[in-house]
Amino acid sequence: MDVIVREVAKVWNAGGRDQVAALAPVSHRFASGSFSCLLGPSGCGKSTLIRLVGGLESLSGGTIEIRDPVSGSLQPVGKHSVMMWQGLNLFPWRTVIDNVAFGPEMEGVSRNERYAKAREVLAVTGLQAFAEHYPRQLSGGMRQRVALARALIMGRPILLMDEPFAALDAQTKIVMQIELLRIFEAARKTVLFVTHAIDEAILLGDEIVVMSARPGRIKEVIPVNLPRPRSLDVVKTPEFGRLFDHAFHLIREEVTRAMEQQMAESA
Ligand SMILES: Nc1ncnc2c1ncn2[C@@H]1O[C@H](COP(=O)(O)OP(=O)(O)O)[C@@H](O)[C@H]1O
Ligand SMILES: [Mg+2]
Repeated sequence: MDVIVREVAKVWNAGGRDQVAALAPVSHRFASGSFSCLLGPSGCGKSTLIRLVGGLESLSGGTIEIRDPVSGSLQPVGKHSVMMWQGLNLFPWRTVIDNVAFGPEMEGVSRNERYAKAREVLAVTGLQAFAEHYPRQLSGGMRQRVALARALIMGRPILLMDEPFAALDAQTKIVMQIELLRIFEAARKTVLFVTHAIDEAILLGDEIVVMSARPGRIKEVIPVNLPRPRSLDVVKTPEFGRLFDHAFHLIREEVTRAMEQQMAESA
């Protein structure tokens, strides 16, 4: 599915009469089957943008089109996407497999069918051995896998990920990034992945959409032409270093601006 964002704006009501312009008009085409990383300083509207794409919030302006690239038909916003939440909202009273099978259960999928599907995604996410465990028996990294499995089981062509690995320790994060690369290789989806880590954006993405401080705009789109399948070895290549320097230069200006904004607001 192509995700075509045209002149999209979002103004939040911040309580009382206060309004926060979170997104200035933003336009971008997220191409079907490609992995886009949204990179920008805290508060620049990254979460706002992917929530809008997922149909979880209403637009203040502009349009979002979800288009089937083969038939060209326009699809309802939200119907073909799934958000991967951080693994913190798993049901503690359900086993891993019952957590993963929850979405299909809500859609009325039969018991046999949803367990069969759940076993498939447990295999893909390396959780086979943990099917009967409860979330409290899992490490943080394993819980993130369950959260990913919960999203994948829905079989939607658009995957929305909002800083999914931000809370993981550095080693676990790397393992999850490599897993995600492998999963993306096996099933190309249209992925919108929010991060504030430049190295993560380069390692994973086909492009990096760099956003400016609030109200969020697209400052630059950096294509990442590192070949796939990718491994961690790409971080040692000169191209990775070049992309890092370029993104860092763009981001540094915006982070400085965002920090100045926050200080002015709290003064
Ligand atoms: N539900 C909301 N109600 C009011 N303001 C919000 C809401 N969500 C986000 N904001 C504000 O919109 C701006 C952008 O937020 P967000 O999209 O979460 O940024 P990011 O994900 O890039 O850190 C921030 O100033 C934030 O406080
Ligand atoms: Mg956010």
